Amino acid sequence: SDPALVARARAAKDRLGDRLFVLGHHYQRDEVIQFADVTGDSFKLAREAAARPGAEYIVFCGVHFMAESADILTSDAQRVVLPDLAAGCSMADMATFNQVEECWEALEEAGIADQVVPITYMNSSADIKAFCGRHGGAVCTSSNARRALEWAFEQGRQVLFLPDQHLGRNTAVLEMGFGLDDCVVYNPHRPNGGLTDAALRDARMILWKGHCSVHGRFTADCVDDVRARIPGVNVLVHPECRHEVVTKADFVGSTEYIIKTLEAAPAGSSWAVGTELNLVKRLGTMFPDKTVTFLDKTVCYCSTMNRIDLPHLVWALESLAGGHVVNQITVDADTTHWAKVALDRMLALP
Ligand code: 13P
Ligand code: SF4
Repeated sequence: SDPALVARARAAKDRLGDRLFVLGHHYQRDEVIQFADVTGDSFKLAREAAARPGAEYIVFCGVHFMAESADILTSDAQRVVLPDLAAGCSMADMATFNQVEECWEALEEAGIADQVVPITYMNSSADIKAFCGRHGGAVCTSSNARRALEWAFEQGRQVLFLPDQHLGRNTAVLEMGFGLDDCVVYNPHRPNGGLTDAALRDARMILWKGHCSVHGRFTADCVDDVRARIPGVNVLVHPECRHEVVTKADFVGSTEYIIKTLEAAPAGSSWAVGTELNLVKRLGTMFPDKTVTFLDKTVCYCSTMNRIDLPHLVWALESLAGGHVVNQITVDADTTHWAKVALDRMLALP
C-alpha cells in the first residue's frame, strides 16, 4: 500500500489515541486491516463494539449492517463511522422491511404466525433485526446459528429464517438433523412467497430466498476438482455456501472458525478454503507452513467489503482527528430498542 497514506493513517490514529477504536472484519483488505485494533467475525466484532464504552469514535471497517449493529450496541454518545457509505451487502438487501411484513401477513393468514419465531442472520438491516425483536425472535451469526435455532425451537414450533437460505438450511439439516423436506423457501417476489398455506403450515424452517453472491459462486464441482488436483486436501468452507458444497466439505464455520482451524492444523497439511478471497490470501501469509488454496479457480472478492480501502480510511480518520464526524451510521431510537432486544437475545445464548 502507498507509504504516504500509511503514514497519514498512522498519524491520524495517533492523534485520536484512546478516543478511537477501529474494528476490522476478516474480509477487509490488508491495507485496511493493518489499522484495526481488533479483527473478527461478525459476532466477535459486535461484542467488541459493545465492550468499548470509552471510545468516542468506532470506525467500522466492514459493511453497513455491521456498523448499524455497532451503533445499536453502543451508547448514544459514541459515534460509529463507516469509511465508505457504499459498503453495503447484497444479501442484506435481499430482505426489505416491507417484504418481511408482507411475509408475516401471509403467515398470519395461514394461521401460523403465533407459533413462528423469526430469526435473522446478522447480515440484515437494523429494521429487520427490530422486526425480529418485536415478534419474539433473535439475531444470529454464522458462529451461533445452531444455538439460536435451538433457542427458537424452544419458543415456537416453526422458524422464519432471514435472509440467508443457505445458512438456515445448512444449520438445520447438517447440524440439527432436520430433513431437506422440513424446509421451504419463501420467495418475496411471488404472491404468498410462492407457497401454499399448507406448505407454510407443514414446514419447520421457512427459509427466506436470499443468498451471498460471493459464497454462491462455489459449486460442488469446485470441491470435486480441488480433491482431484490436491490429494489429501482438507476442504473448509463458510456456511453461506450452497448446501451441496457444505455437504461435500470437511469443515464448515464462520471466518473466525476458519482462522482458528488453520491455526490448529498440522504443518504440511493442505487446505482448500471456500470464503472471501482477501481472507484466503491472508491465511496463506499467516500460515506459511501449510498449503492454502482458494476453493474456486476464479477470483472472488466481496466488492462491497473491498470498498473500504486505504484512501477512504485515511479520509475518515483525518476528518475525525480534525473534529469532523463523517459517514456516521445512526439507527433511530425505536428501531434501536427492538433491534437491541433481538441482538441481546443472541448475546445471551449459552
Ligand atoms: P462471519 O464473519 O460472521 O463469518 O460472516 C461472514 C460474512 O459474510 C460477513 O459478511
Ligand atoms: Fe454480504 Fe456476502 Fe459480502 Fe458478506 S461476503 S458482506 S454476506 S455479499
